[in-house]
Amino acid sequence: MKTILVTGGAGFIGSAVIRHLINDTDYNVVNVDKLTYAGNLESLESVSDNSRYTFEHVDICDATEIKRVFKQHQPDIVMHLAAESHVDRSIDGPGEFIQTNIVGTYNLLEQARHYWAALGDAKKVGFRFHHISTDEVYGDLEGTDDLFTEETPYAPSSPYSASKASSDHLVRAWYRTFDFPTIITNCSNNYGPYHFPEKLIPLVILNALAGKPLPVYGKGNQVRDWLYVDDHARALVLVATTGEIAETYNIGGHNEKQNIDVVKTICHLLEELAPNRPEGVNAYEELITFVTDRVGHDVRYAIDAGKIQQELSWVPEETFETGLRKTVKWYLENQQWCSNVQDGSYKQERLGIVG
Ligand SMILES: NC(=O)c1ccc[n+]([C@@H]2O[C@H](COP(=O)([O-])OP(=O)(O)OC[C@H]3O[C@@H](n4cnc5c(N)ncnc54)[C@H](O)[C@@H]3O)[C@@H](O)[C@H]2O)c1
Repeated sequence: MKTILVTGGAGFIGSAVIRHLINDTDYNVVNVDKLTYAGNLESLESVSDNSRYTFEHVDICDATEIKRVFKQHQPDIVMHLAAESHVDRSIDGPGEFIQTNIVGTYNLLEQARHYWAALGDAKKVGFRFHHISTDEVYGDLEGTDDLFTEETPYAPSSPYSASKASSDHLVRAWYRTFDFPTIITNCSNNYGPYHFPEKLIPLVILNALAGKPLPVYGKGNQVRDWLYVDDHARALVLVATTGEIAETYNIGGHNEKQNIDVVKTICHLLEELAPNRPEGVNAYEELITFVTDRVGHDVRYAIDAGKIQQELSWVPEETFETGLRKTVKWYLENQQWCSNVQDGSYKQERLGIVG
């Protein structure tokens, strides 16, 4: 049985990848996660008792520990998702982004390369290092109808996207220089269950249910291409297991929406699914509050996902409408997960205090 080492598996997308790997494949899974504020082991409760799942509480910047993890678990594939991922946090404090996204990726590449170089022929031929990145490395498409393709030049705007662009360059260089078998994917905005409530969609759902303001940057005219997280997880496992070495695949949902329309759609869904509004609220939409725009805010991202569709036969199963409905329902039905995140008690599990 083969083993996939997933970094950042306690995060939003990483936990979706691990649930998919455990539920729908035969792979063993090793989850390497530092458990920053964004790491939540409660997102893995449905699979963590499975004998094919192992958790390693390790920082990807720690060379000694990463070396030990490779030696101990002998992975066949690495899926690298660990990162600092929130643009606003990268503006408030870029240091952690440089450390984890660039230095951490360098460290992981080096430890993986030395491990790979010493493998026997059969295992060496099949080994893959899959680096998971973002469409934000391509910059802004304001005022055009263009789509990001795999050939679009890099032009990152924020400390977050610049750190991800740097890590993409390192990964490509490790292939060119060392023949190290890498693959890169760049994906658009994800949404879905288990999303940390600092991001737009879960923030709007939970604030609306609490009768709090729904903050929208600027005029809310920023366009994002939304992809349901389980569709992304399926695409990632497909790329890691069947993608071509040295290739890049863009992943997107063909769901371009303005932020203000996303917020209004959530409000409409809540009118239907949670009609008992908080006291004093006559309509969820009245909670919408426009706030000062983020500095350097990119206006439009949009992905051409034609390559992965044609070459690997991947298509998203959810439209934005079906995926958003599922997401709102999930937040309504999983208030415990949400309140454990909001009151910080999810952090106690990592200390062994709970569960
Ligand atoms: N969320 C999106 O919309 C989106 C879109 C495209 C690409 N991506 C990329 O996908 C990946 C996962 O994104 P996400 O939204 O799940 O992020 P997330 O912030 O929810 O999760 C990140 C995970 O990485 C872990 N981590 C952080 N620093 C670490 C370190 N030094 N060592 C080990 N673990 C560490 C955290 O504990 C957390 O579990 C990131 O690389 C991100 O750039 C995200």
